[in-house]
Amino acid sequence: MEERPVPTPGDKPEATLVVTGIRSCLTMAAGDAGPAGGEFQEEVGELSDAAIAARGENLIYVGPANRLPASVRVASDAARVDAGAGVALPGFVDCHTHLVFAGWRAEEFAQRIAGASYQQILAAGGGILSTVAATRAASEEELTERAQRRLERMLCAGTTTVEAKSGYGLSLADEAKILRVARRLDGSGPWDVVPTLLGAHALPGEYQEDRDGYLELVDEMIETLVDRAVFVDAFCEVGAFTTRECRRLFEKGREAGLGIKLHADQLSNSGGAALAAELGANSADHLDFVSVDGMAALAEAGVIGVMLPTVPLYVGARRQAPAARLQSAGVPLALATDFNPGTSPVDSMGIVVALACLQMRMSPAAALVAATRNAAYAVGRGDRIGTLEVGKQADLQIYAVDDHAELPYRFGQQEPAVVIKAGKVVVEDGVFAG
Ligand code: NIG
Ligand code: FE
Repeated sequence: MEERPVPTPGDKPEATLVVTGIRSCLTMAAGDAGPAGGEFQEEVGELSDAAIAARGENLIYVGPANRLPASVRVASDAARVDAGAGVALPGFVDCHTHLVFAGWRAEEFAQRIAGASYQQILAAGGGILSTVAATRAASEEELTERAQRRLERMLCAGTTTVEAKSGYGLSLADEAKILRVARRLDGSGPWDVVPTLLGAHALPGEYQEDRDGYLELVDEMIETLVDRAVFVDAFCEVGAFTTRECRRLFEKGREAGLGIKLHADQLSNSGGAALAAELGANSADHLDFVSVDGMAALAEAGVIGVMLPTVPLYVGARRQAPAARLQSAGVPLALATDFNPGTSPVDSMGIVVALACLQMRMSPAAALVAATRNAAYAVGRGDRIGTLEVGKQADLQIYAVDDHAELPYRFGQQEPAVVIKAGKVVVEDGVFAG
């Protein structure tokens, strides 16, 4: 029998970054690969007294601290991070944002508090359309600069990947401008940006009398901008676009090779979830008014339900997405900020996780799985990010707490001490390291 060679130190992979002193490491890697639904929604894959090592961008060790020396060699110039007996978990994936826009809308915030509805403001030419006017007027440089600052803030709050929708241009040139900005920002700092074409966000002023003309223009956007986006999205709602109109656009997008996402059942039960299931969408987002049949259809088709708990809060809606019922129906749930100037000027995934616990009664474990692993699948990147597993990108965050429940427990007050993106320390002592 051939003798097996004795392993030498040279056989062990060499780490360029090592994290030790982790009291609790939430790998999010329980069960089989894929989005975690049903009972797996609660499984954070916890390791106690853990260590993590990366070589370049990728993880080469995630396991018990005492087995680290036998598994990896640590280069003399490797970066070393002491987690201070804290909690480590994957970087947040904010899988639904409208990142690129100009102008805030605080005046509408006040109007809504005084009783005006979101749809009344939109029908009067405000809402989305006022952000469209401001975004059209802004230069590409200005939009890039603003969005870059937002990404820095998000990173300091633990978000390492951000989906970014267009939808505030609503002309070929302006949608192209927004998607160019999103593309430029991808990798311009320590974050990944996933661009989505949302041409069917609202009917712009110049097409108010010509719906068909606008739908043809969105077709043209899909044809022309397909290489700049990964997903196509639409606002499927009374006062926005009908399921019939959305189906047509999505078929076109799918033919062009784009994945599908949709704003579904946000303000009423408009059949969005059923449409998402029928078309094999990556995700159906909002779902505040999803029907029982809609939930069953999503579960059956394996569509991820993205819940956006800041939105009902901001629009003064009486309903939240029914997290517990979606989870028991078997729909894998993700969470996102929906960051935008109208319905969610909130850029913090930590706040979203806390609201999901407080308002939707998700367990802290389920909400954290939703904000990491399932959100990564919602942007089609589940094979690279969202869990801490050897071979995946080393995107992680460390909190100075004893237990993961302390994150949502201290609403709005927990930010990571350390953020690591693609194997590099990018936030240290809570400060962006550039
Ligand atoms: O996801 N619902 C449609 N779009 C956004 C809001 C956009 C806006 O009000 O500017 C949303 O809530
Ligand atoms: Fe949205």
